[in-house]
Amino acid sequence: MNVLRFSDLCDQGRARGRRVFIRADLNVPQDEAGNITEDTRIRASVPCIQMALAGGAAVMVTSHLGRPTEGELKPEDSLAPVARRLSELIGRPVTLKQDWLGGVDVQQGEVVLLENCRVNKGEKKNNPELAQKMAALCDIYVNDAFGTAHRAEATTYGIAQYAKVACAGPLLAAEIDAITKALANPKRPLVAIVAGSKVSTKLTILQSLAKNVDQLIVGGGIANTFLLAAGLPIGKSLAEADLVHEAQAVIKAMKARGAEVPIPTDVVVAKAFAADAPATVKAAKDVAADDLILDIGPQTAQKLAQQLSSRPAPSSGTGRWACSSSTPSPRAPR
Ligand code: 3PG
Repeated sequence: MNVLRFSDLCDQGRARGRRVFIRADLNVPQDEAGNITEDTRIRASVPCIQMALAGGAAVMVTSHLGRPTEGELKPEDSLAPVARRLSELIGRPVTLKQDWLGGVDVQQGEVVLLENCRVNKGEKKNNPELAQKMAALCDIYVNDAFGTAHRAEATTYGIAQYAKVACAGPLLAAEIDAITKALANPKRPLVAIVAGSKVSTKLTILQSLAKNVDQLIVGGGIANTFLLAAGLPIGKSLAEADLVHEAQAVIKAMKARGAEVPIPTDVVVAKAFAADAPATVKAAKDVAADDLILDIGPQTAQKLAQQLSSRPAPSSGTGRWACSSSTPSPRAPR
């Protein structure tokens, strides 16, 4: 896909002395004390920040963390722990700035982390005035938030319409390249694994993959909607009952091509979504009305593993695997 890449701008010296605004996805899980329990997304965002520093930019980075109420910064919504971890990873100070819409003081070679962008009123609804204010803060806008690229919010979408220059960061560009390669001229069989909480936000992707892949493995809350579509009980599990027909259409389209959407035959359930809730493995057909499906069962996992490993091992550049994200979504399904 032909997109403007931040790496090219840096190579051409076009970031030198410029104010660069990076939208990263630093939405990491934390324990009750606020400690980061998994930092993949922060580590995955470091190359873009280092690229900007090496390119001679003054660097602003922002991200959402969780789903705060707009207009209210509660302590648990703060990116402060992320700023500390980022500073350790890049080996230089990272200043955390609140109330940044009016202006950000940042010099060449410095990194300022702009506090949780979802606290700004209008972020979620992609308010144009908010997007314009943010675009005015920078010379170059870089979207490197692959994990949030499916959301049309002010920091992921609106700002790109108003920024002087808008481009893709290395993480986003690598994902675009991988999926383009995987879908344009794949070696077969081609398997796609798509997870997430909702079919609705990925329906067009699922429909498009259904025309292309040999197997479409669905996970997360999406799998529950497909279990429903296959006529299986799902109890109180996260699902979108109103999208069962669309899920059935995907299954049908796959079948018509001799391809399949593997439906779990066993699942792990609990009566509550809590770390200490006892987990039970049961056949998918035996899920009770008060069960929550939280994972596939061992029989299904083994079957999928066998199906995947019975194919030639993926090697770089073959474009065989289509995956929805290289950065796991570490927060609970919502
Ligand atoms: C995620 O964790 O899935 C991404 O950061 C997007 O978060 P969101 O679902 O709250 O938009």
